[in-house]
Amino acid sequence: MVDRLATRGVQTTVTLSLVILVAITTIPNWINVSSITGSFQKKFLFFGTSQTYSSEFDCSLKCSDISPLTNISTDNNAPSESCPEYFKWIHEDLRPWEVTGITKEMVEKGIEKADFNIVIVNGRVYIEKFKDAFQTRDTVTIWGILQLLRLYPGKLPDLDLMFSCGDKPVIEKSDYGQSNASYAPPMLHYCGDDSSFDIVFPDWSFWGWPELNIKPWEILKEDLQEGNGRIKWNERKPYAYWKGNTDVSLARQDLVKCNGSKLNARIDKVEWKHEMEHGFKTADLASQCNYRYKIYIEGVSWSVSEKYILACDSMSLMINPHYYDFFTRSLLPTIHYWPINKTEKCKSIKFAVEWGNKHMNQAQEIGQTGSKYIQEQLRMQYVYDYMFHLLNEYSKLLKYKPTVPKGAAEVCSETMVCSVEGLQKKFRIDSMVKNPADSSPCTFPPSYNRAELEDFLEMKDNLTKQVKMLEESESIGNPTIKI
Ligand SMILES: *[C@@H]1O[C@H](CO)[C@@H](O)[C@H](O)[C@H]1NC(C)=O
Ligand SMILES: *[C@@H]1O[C@H](CO)[C@@H](O)[C@H](O)[C@H]1NC(C)=O
Ligand SMILES: *[C@@H]1O[C@H](CO)[C@@H](O)[C@H](O)[C@H]1NC(C)=O
Ligand SMILES: *[C@@H]1O[C@H](CO)[C@@H](O)[C@H](O)[C@H]1NC(C)=O
Ligand SMILES: *[C@@H]1O[C@H](CO)[C@@H](O)[C@H](O)[C@H]1NC(C)=O
Repeated sequence: MVDRLATRGVQTTVTLSLVILVAITTIPNWINVSSITGSFQKKFLFFGTSQTYSSEFDCSLKCSDISPLTNISTDNNAPSESCPEYFKWIHEDLRPWEVTGITKEMVEKGIEKADFNIVIVNGRVYIEKFKDAFQTRDTVTIWGILQLLRLYPGKLPDLDLMFSCGDKPVIEKSDYGQSNASYAPPMLHYCGDDSSFDIVFPDWSFWGWPELNIKPWEILKEDLQEGNGRIKWNERKPYAYWKGNTDVSLARQDLVKCNGSKLNARIDKVEWKHEMEHGFKTADLASQCNYRYKIYIEGVSWSVSEKYILACDSMSLMINPHYYDFFTRSLLPTIHYWPINKTEKCKSIKFAVEWGNKHMNQAQEIGQTGSKYIQEQLRMQYVYDYMFHLLNEYSKLLKYKPTVPKGAAEVCSETMVCSVEGLQKKFRIDSMVKNPADSSPCTFPPSYNRAELEDFLEMKDNLTKQVKMLEESESIGNPTIKI
């Protein structure tokens, strides 16, 4: 695995760009954790209910021997809370198929771009794999969907989904005339951009990233929150920090030029191969929260590090991202983060740090607002609710009843835990949904109307322009920026 990573690392960057965080996950002897099988009972109960799944598996059983739970009544009649604002983007992602619906032909056209096809029929899950995804992205993603079914048994409709596990979006708008957009194959993927039709879906890291020793999100999030409390904001180092893989993009190589105290930035290179061989000792997340400012920069495309960087309550300096993932489109410059000019990175970072050190209360507030967004709106429960609503809306567009493809194999949580060892097994057990939810998913918000969406985008633009004007006037002493 290490060798494979070492040779492919340069292309698959995104991921490797992942910063810092690793150290908090230090698990001694991480290879040898197979002894924990059977102790499912422990902790991971996000949502209390009287019904629980069995804590013991019989690893001699096949999926076909195990019956999934059917529709459980959620007798809790209280109206469920509203979903976070970013759920509205589900409507935008599915908009291309709004009028035509999704036909079997459209889905099958995705085969050439997809890594796997996942079909859900009567709560059972079938996979047909087309390619080898990088590391275990595909299996961890499938694991996540199985956990969604455990959380909301019987509530998901039948589905037929194509999934792409690469770094970059694969369904280019330019290949489908705008007027003919709905003929594009619907493809689930971890990120999108303005020139693609990919439907964004939470990436594998929410269920842990065993190759880099990064824990499942529900657990890591707690560690990060605890890390925030270690050093008071004004006692943190008064400059900007970034640590990651610099080899993956020109922009990152460019970022190295910003290194140095005169430029208010400290840029460190992480060598994942070295970290892997030395137990991830020097990739330390906690040290990232020791700085007042943290830098986010894309690698090949989006980087899973974004949520880890934002979760720290230092002010995030975002080198304006090209790609989005499912939760990032509702983030606002000067509210949740500080925008950095991509073409003038060093100058822009230097300015941001000077501004923040002059206006510490505001800088601190931006850091905290960003951190709160992640801690509250990106709770694992919402990640599942997002998946639920996305898949539920998608199913409403289907023009046919999904059937199990000939070449597909059934998968289930039990065999997926039984079939792996070491850290992979530990992370699966740790991220396993133990009880069905005793309430319904959050209430799905209506879509933006056109005017609202335009307003939102204009506001985002306006806020970025304010920072640009500040930079141009270099009026650091003038605290008039409205936040
Ligand atoms: C599950 O039950 C609820 C009511 O208890 C019902 O509204 C819903 O349609 C059911 N779902 C399925 C997939 O049967
Ligand atoms: C749209 O694409 C489909 C399939 O590629 C084709 O059959 C159809 O004629 C196209 N329609 C238009 C308006 O171009
Ligand atoms: C940035 O500068 C520090 C201090 O001079 C140095 O230790 C570090 O290796 C530099 N980072 C890179 C990526 O060159
Ligand atoms: C970035 O900086 C350059 C050079 O100062 C400027 O021309 C450009 O408009 C800036 N871009 C943004 C998005 O502020
Ligand atoms: C954006 O800025 C322009 C010019 O200052 C202003 O007229 C407009 O109302 C602003 N839009 C939003 C959504 O804040």
